[in-house]
This record gives sequence, structure tokens and C-alpha cells, in this order.
Amino acid sequence: MHLPVLLAETIDALQPHSGGVYLDGTVGAGGHAEAILRASDPSGRLIGFDQDEQALIVAGQRLAGFGERVALFHANFDQMKQVTLTQAIPLADGILLDIGVSSMQLDQAERGFSFREDAPLDMRMNQTAGQTAADLVNELGQDELANLIYQYGEERLSRRIARAIVQARPIERTQQLAEVIARATPGGGRRQKIHPATRTFQALRIAVNDELGALERVLPQALKLLKPGGRLAIITFHSLEDRLVKQFFRRESQDCICPPEQLICTCDHQASIKLITKRPITAVTTEIDVNPRARSAKLRVVELIKV
Ligand SMILES: C[S@@+](CC[C@H](N)C(=O)[O-])C[C@H]1O[C@@H](n2cnc3c(N)ncnc32)[C@H](O)[C@@H]1O
Repeated sequence: MHLPVLLAETIDALQPHSGGVYLDGTVGAGGHAEAILRASDPSGRLIGFDQDEQALIVAGQRLAGFGERVALFHANFDQMKQVTLTQAIPLADGILLDIGVSSMQLDQAERGFSFREDAPLDMRMNQTAGQTAADLVNELGQDELANLIYQYGEERLSRRIARAIVQARPIERTQQLAEVIARATPGGGRRQKIHPATRTFQALRIAVNDELGALERVLPQALKLLKPGGRLAIITFHSLEDRLVKQFFRRESQDCICPPEQLICTCDHQASIKLITKRPITAVTTEIDVNPRARSAKLRVVELIKV
């Protein structure tokens, strides 16, 4: 079962209340969603999105008891604005994004997210569309593959790994790929703390699901979907995502975004949010002990300024 990370901290940040409207862009197994619904008893509403149909089935079962207070949509969160418009959903009191892969996705070997079990190299969160990891691994040029592994996996050995992949093609299975990567790593990667395929698998997952692109697209939308005084809480698990969120929040919380050397402001930019968390909230050791996934989680929260 997927354990929601930073649960108490997220509820504390969103302050759900009865009558409130809450958007959960990554409903997953519905853990955060359930806590939001309980905290907003008896009439708070939760609109949940997930691009993974299987997650929506699990969330639907878990949240069924809340009846009409819940609506779930199979959609990428970058479609949030369009869905809320077509469904006439009012501006939200709170929005949550708990980004990344769920334990359910990792634990289902056949989804291809994990190199620990052998399965087709898929990695799509939305199994109804898009390219699989096998498509990328078998079709990209060597340089493109190396850049992807370096950029999204922060893998030093990206060039070497890309060369080995291209020589071993076609690669269709997770363990076949993991073995190719291990062979391309000095000493088979046995001296490394993490499995030698960890970073490459992460890079492929980010690329397959366009994770950074979706995050970039949802950030401005989310601010438009909030009521004044409404809050946006984002949990990330990866430094590339956290950097995107941090820079967006910093920019939108400033009145002037002219370069620092410019003495007179010409940008006319106005702050639309205030930072509720100056530094990201991270998990305490007691949470990490029961849920190791929480180790890299960072929660940032902002509030839409009241005009
Ligand atoms: C970490 S889990 C969320 C867990 C959830 N908060 C809970 O308590 O059970 C992330 C979920 O977000 C979904 N997801 C990731 N990126 C998405 C996107 N761009 N659009 C919609 N869903 C996305 C994944 O399919 C996964 O189910």
C-alpha cells in the first residue's frame, strides 16, 4: 500500500475546512485525499486527478464512502484548468500536487518502473498513451540518450551507458537494461551505494512521463485556479522538480523581477503569492523509518494573495 508522505504537514498547510473545494492533482491511492476530506467534514469537496487509470480505481474504492463530495478524473494534471472549466468547478481553497511515482506503480513489476524484477520496459504512468521506455531506449540516437540520462538522471557515466545501450539494442525488458548498465559501470557497480541502474531508470521515467514539462505547465494554471487566500502545496522527490517549484514560487512572490543590476524597475511584475514555507518542509526521522520514500520529499507551500 502507498503511504502518503508528509501527511500531517500537508493537512496543516492546506487547512481544509467544511465547504472548501480542494484539487488533488496526483490522487494516487487517495491517502492525502482521504485526509483532506476528513479534515473538511461535512461538506468539503475533493476533485482528484491522476494519469494512471489503475490508481484511480484504488482511489475510487477508498473514497467511495464520501459520496458526492468526491469527483475523480483520468487526466494529466496539466489539464487541470480545462477539466475544472468544463466541469464548472469553482475556484479552489487548496491544491495539492504530490509528484512522482507511487509505491503501487513501483511494486507492480509489469509496469516496468523497477529494475528489481523482470518486466517489459514500459514506465508509462498513463498506459493509454505515449512512448514507452523501450521506445526511447531503442529509438533515440546515442547522444540524445546520453543527454537524457545525464540531464534527468544526473548520471556521470551517461555517455558510457548510452554507448552500451546502443550496442545492446534491441532492449525490451527491465533486467536486460539493468544488466547492460551494470556491465558498463566500473566493477559492475558493486562498489556503489545504489544499484548502477538507479539513475538511468529515473531518467527514463522522467522522460517517458514528461514529468518536468507537466510540472512547468501546471504551475501557472494552479495559481489561476485558486481563490484569493487559497493555498498550493507541492511535494517533490527530486532536485530538478524542487528547483522548478522553488524558482517559480520565488518569481511569483516578488513585485519586481528585473535583473538585480537594474536600478529602476521596468517589468511591472506584481507578486501574486506569498511564501508560507521559506524553506521546504522535510520528513522527520520517525516518518522516514516507516516510509523510506519520504527521505527525499520536500513540501513547499504558497498562498494566493488577497486583492
Ligand atoms: C506519489 S503518488 C501520489 C500519492 C497520493 N498523494 C496518496 O496519498 O496516495 C503520485 C501519483 O501522481 C500521479 N501523477 C504523476 N504525475 C502526474 C501528472 N502529470 N498528472 C496526473 N497524475 C500524475 C501518478 O500516477 C501517481 O499515482
